[in-house]
Amino acid sequence: MVMEQAVDRRAFVKLVGLSAGGIALSGGAVVAGLVGRRRVGAQEANKVVLAYSDYPDVAIANLADLKDGEPVFFDYPQAGQRNMLVKLGQGRTAEEGVGPGSDVVAYSAFCAHMGAPLDTVYNHEHAVLGPCPLHFSTFDLAKSGILVMGKATQPLPQVVLAVDAAGAITATGMYGLIYGWPANLITLDGGN
Ligand code: FES
Repeated sequence: MVMEQAVDRRAFVKLVGLSAGGIALSGGAVVAGLVGRRRVGAQEANKVVLAYSDYPDVAIANLADLKDGEPVFFDYPQAGQRNMLVKLGQGRTAEEGVGPGSDVVAYSAFCAHMGAPLDTVYNHEHAVLGPCPLHFSTFDLAKSGILVMGKATQPLPQVVLAVDAAGAITATGMYGLIYGWPANLITLDGGN
């Protein structure tokens, strides 16, 4: 279901892979649209208004099953969109990290530059993903996937996680556009 509303930072997780080019200034407010744009009313001035679709909530693991530095791979939000869940450990605290130590994070396993697979290049000592086998991009997993080096110009898309009282880890959304998709929830054949 496509919706529009004013959002805070947290609600950005519901953004459907809108690229920076999909956001435009209009009357002093930022307006973006998945299926079109609308002008915001005076009462909405200076708020961010986005068109978005809801990501599914998908259970992916339990905290009790994670070991420091041992990645778990899962598809999200669609089949074929591969991601890596990992507990950084070593006393690190990660931005958007979950769990008692705020060190459990998940990211797309497709390089933000040209989509090369990053499945085998997790560096636990430095808590980075990379260097990418194609052009050496390396992403800091404790700092929202920001680029450390290489050719990518975007951070690595990060999966938004939630944890319940029983330790169940759920994927609830995604920051950023997964490489190769025009929008994270739109299938490549044009379906939705
Ligand atoms: S595809 Fe990863 S750096 Fe180019």
